[in-house]
Amino acid sequence: MQIALQINGRPVKAEAEPELLLVDLLRERLGLTGTHVGCDTSQCGACVVHVDGVSVKSCTMLAVSADGAEVTTIEGLAKGAELHPMQAAFHENHGLQCGFCTPGMVMSAIDFANRNDAPSEKDVRHWLEGNICRCTGYQNIVASVLDGTERMNAAKGSGA
Ligand code: FES
Ligand code: FES
Repeated sequence: MQIALQINGRPVKAEAEPELLLVDLLRERLGLTGTHVGCDTSQCGACVVHVDGVSVKSCTMLAVSADGAEVTTIEGLAKGAELHPMQAAFHENHGLQCGFCTPGMVMSAIDFANRNDAPSEKDVRHWLEGNICRCTGYQNIVASVLDGTERMNAAKGSGA
């Protein structure tokens, strides 16, 4: 069937077979390869995107289920050369090494920060249980998420 959705603020129409996964629509059909596939079994979180503002593992969602939705991928975060506050926090706190997990981490962290504007380190670690990183040992990722949450709060406060 044909589906129509918004992806990163742009209207998109696509043919989607009933079994097509959202992650495959994004990567294979639309070339949005910033969303990664680490496991395909809903465990690693590398494929996290936002659907109507909420983080979703796109390897667990059918593309047809996103018909009519607003989808945001990692490619949709920066405004030109200006990184999203959470991206800037990952960059400046060395929250990545190989970077494979990073798009999913950032998308997940933004949803987290929208739900909890004064998190503890424990809150961050609990939220990120669905995102696996094989490189960093998580310490700098947790620092990035805490810093990114503060940056998002400041951006909201300034109306940015
Ligand atoms: Fe989706 Fe791992 S690829 S959770
Ligand atoms: Fe390599 Fe997380 S930075 S998997």
